[in-house]
Amino acid sequence: MWKGRFQKATADLVQQFGESISYDWRLYKHDIAGSIAHARAQLTAGLLTQQEFDDIEKGLREIEADIDAGNFEFSIALEDIHMNIESELTKRIGAAGGKLHTARSRNDQVATDTRLYCREQVGNIIELITQLQTVLLNKAEQYAEAVVPGYTHLQRGQPVTIGHHLLAYVEMFQRDKSRLHGCRKRLNVCPLGSGALAGSTINLDRHAIAAELEFSDVTHNSMDAISDRDYIAEMLFIFSLCGAHLSRLSEDLILWCSSEFGFATLSDAHTTGSSLMPQKKNPDVCEITRGKTGRLYGNLTAILTAIKGLPLTYNRDLQEDKEPLFDSIDTIDLTLRVNTEMIADMEINVDTCLAAASDPLLLATDLADYLVKNGVPFRQAHELVGLAVAESAKSGIPLDQLDLSKVSSEYKPDAKDVFSLATALKARTNPGAPSPENVRKEIQRLREKI
Ligand code: ARG
Repeated sequence: MWKGRFQKATADLVQQFGESISYDWRLYKHDIAGSIAHARAQLTAGLLTQQEFDDIEKGLREIEADIDAGNFEFSIALEDIHMNIESELTKRIGAAGGKLHTARSRNDQVATDTRLYCREQVGNIIELITQLQTVLLNKAEQYAEAVVPGYTHLQRGQPVTIGHHLLAYVEMFQRDKSRLHGCRKRLNVCPLGSGALAGSTINLDRHAIAAELEFSDVTHNSMDAISDRDYIAEMLFIFSLCGAHLSRLSEDLILWCSSEFGFATLSDAHTTGSSLMPQKKNPDVCEITRGKTGRLYGNLTAILTAIKGLPLTYNRDLQEDKEPLFDSIDTIDLTLRVNTEMIADMEINVDTCLAAASDPLLLATDLADYLVKNGVPFRQAHELVGLAVAESAKSGIPLDQLDLSKVSSEYKPDAKDVFSLATALKARTNPGAPSPENVRKEIQRLREKI
């Protein structure tokens, strides 16, 4: 492509070092769409005859069909997807192919292709998150009344329901989707026409190109347009955070599936055995999800590091944006799909959850609230319940069977009524609290929102 200036062929090692075709071939559809829009603008500007445009469009569509069918041989001598396609086009249609690159550089071309690809993938990931949320909502509905301890510091705290616990994750994934919608809006601008860095002396209708490619606007600074990779960093951050949410969910499920907790059972289809210990049924999907999250963080770090020291405008370092991007997309895509399938088949062991939640200590806070409702200041109520808990620990008598009137005269006979899980849950009716009625309303609200 640049033979005029050079007397020696590119060294093999340089070709091997610099090629990106082995991974950026996946941009072929976006590259072809961009080229057709660019060619149409050339036609409008009188730079191509109708015949030349038709040949270019037909040639590009045929190349696309060949790549679709796996009948296209990519060459590392042609570095990347842009040059592989352009060179093949010229081979197929002759001189008109050589006109396509007028008023265009691979710099604005790759920036356009990558934005088109990211826009499509953001849509795909939003859809996959929605499918996971739907499965979580179905499980939350099924177990809206299943009482389970809620934990802080992994110590039993207060009773909640499995429904409420799962809805917490639906909230997290909703925020991830909202961030993806914002990212899609910001990335949906068209850099084509920015050239190598300074636009072109040949004026093509940038707005027409943007409209054809369904961008909402054109970029407004050619130097920024070709060197901007913010949207990739942003996407990789959102995938990292979504990975963190998946990883926390995994950690909960790993605990729930342990013999010590026993709250949940995963299907045989979504667990693995041990090559040595015949009894094992391991939650590998959850563990791999936790592990993949580290990989998502690594990719985010890679892109942030690649861009931080670059002077304007294009530097070849920017080619290093694609492998982390593609890897994170593939990783989050598969992670979401396998988790959706696994959670759909997960069973909750309601009796084991209830037994764990029946520890009367989970209602110690409710006992303090009881005293407050009888006029005792909270700090004093906290201490009076603390004394009762200490007495229970010392005597071995469970808190709900202790003679509380011996601890303080503030405890009346109706203090014992506090120790009903059903009443305790029902009473938690404030917005965001886990009463089964609230949980049902939230499921309703979220079903409409997601
Ligand atoms: N393969 C290159 C990349 O991904 C395309 C742009 C190359 N531009 C250049 N001036 N060498 O960044």
